[in-house]
Amino acid sequence: MNVFITGGSRGIGQAIVLEAIRQGHEVAFTYHTSRERAEEVIRAACAVRPEARCQAYPLDVRNSDQVDEVGNQVLDDFDRVDAVICNAGINLNGLAANMPDETWQTVIDTNLTGSFFVARQFLPGMVANRSGSLVFVSSMGANGISGQAPYAASKAGLLGLSSTLAKEYGRRGIRSNAVLLGFIETDMTREGLSEGNRQFWITYNPLGRTGEPVEAARAILFLCSDAASFISGEAISVTGGLDWGP
Ligand SMILES: NC(=O)c1ccc[n+]([C@@H]2O[C@H](COP(=O)([O-])OP(=O)(O)OC[C@H]3O[C@@H](n4cnc5c(N)ncnc54)[C@H](OP(=O)(O)O)[C@@H]3O)[C@@H](O)[C@H]2O)c1
Repeated sequence: MNVFITGGSRGIGQAIVLEAIRQGHEVAFTYHTSRERAEEVIRAACAVRPEARCQAYPLDVRNSDQVDEVGNQVLDDFDRVDAVICNAGINLNGLAANMPDETWQTVIDTNLTGSFFVARQFLPGMVANRSGSLVFVSSMGANGISGQAPYAASKAGLLGLSSTLAKEYGRRGIRSNAVLLGFIETDMTREGLSEGNRQFWITYNPLGRTGEPVEAARAILFLCSDAASFISGEAISVTGGLDWGP
C-alpha cells in the first residue's frame, strides 16, 4: 500500500510512518517546520526496513496551493496513493471569552480546513482507482474539553467531514474513517501540561496509563488496511477507555 501522512515529522505522525514501513508499505509524509526532523524519520525508516521507500515533503496544510502542489508531486513520485492519513494538527489553549480571532482561526485552519484540503486533493485519484482509504485523526476532545474550544470544534468537524466523505465516495470504493485519540505521549501533550493535569489522565484511565504513539499508529493503519474493508463512516476510540476530559 502507498500511504500519505501529514505531519509525519514528530509524534503520532512519525509513529505512523515507522509502523507503516514496518508493515511493508511505501510512505510519503509531510513536515511543516523542520527538514532535519523529517530526515531523521527517513533514517529511522531505513533502519526499520533498508529497502523501504519513504519520502518527505514540506507542507503547510493551511495553504491549499501547497496542498495541490505536494499532492501532485506525491502522485508523480508514487503513481498512486492508497491511503491518506490527515494527522497534522495543533492545539492552542485559552478560554473562549478571551480568545483572539487568530487563535481560533489558526487551529481551525490547520486541523479542519487543512484536512479537508488534503482529502480533496487525493479524492480524484482514488475515484479513478475505484479504491482508497481516508483516516482523519480526531480526538476525544471532540466531545468538548475546557480551554480548547477551537481544538474541540475542529476535531468534531473532522467527524462530520469523514462521515460525509464516506457517504459521498463509498460507491467509488473509498472508505473514510476517523480515530478519536485519548492522551498520547507526544510534544503536544508534554508541552505546557501541569503535573496535576497529567496525573488526571493517568488516574482516571481504566488502563492506568497514557498511550504511546505507536498504539495510535496501529489503529490508524488498521483502518487503512483491507482488514477494515467493511468499516466506513466510523469513528473509533483509541483512549485506553477514558473517553472524557475535564
Ligand atoms: N497527542 C495526543 O494526545 C493527541 C490526542 C488526540 C489527538 N491528537 C491528534 O494527533 C495528531 C498528531 O498530534 P501529535 O500529538 O503527534 O502532535 P505533535 O507532536 O505536536 O506533531 C504535530 C505534527 O503536525 C505538524 N503540523 C503542525 N502544523 C502544521 C501545518 N500548519 N501544516 C502541516 N503540518 C503541520 C507538525 O509538523 P512540524 O514538526 O514540522 O512542526 C507535526 O508533524 C494531531 O492532529 C492531534 O490533534 C493528539
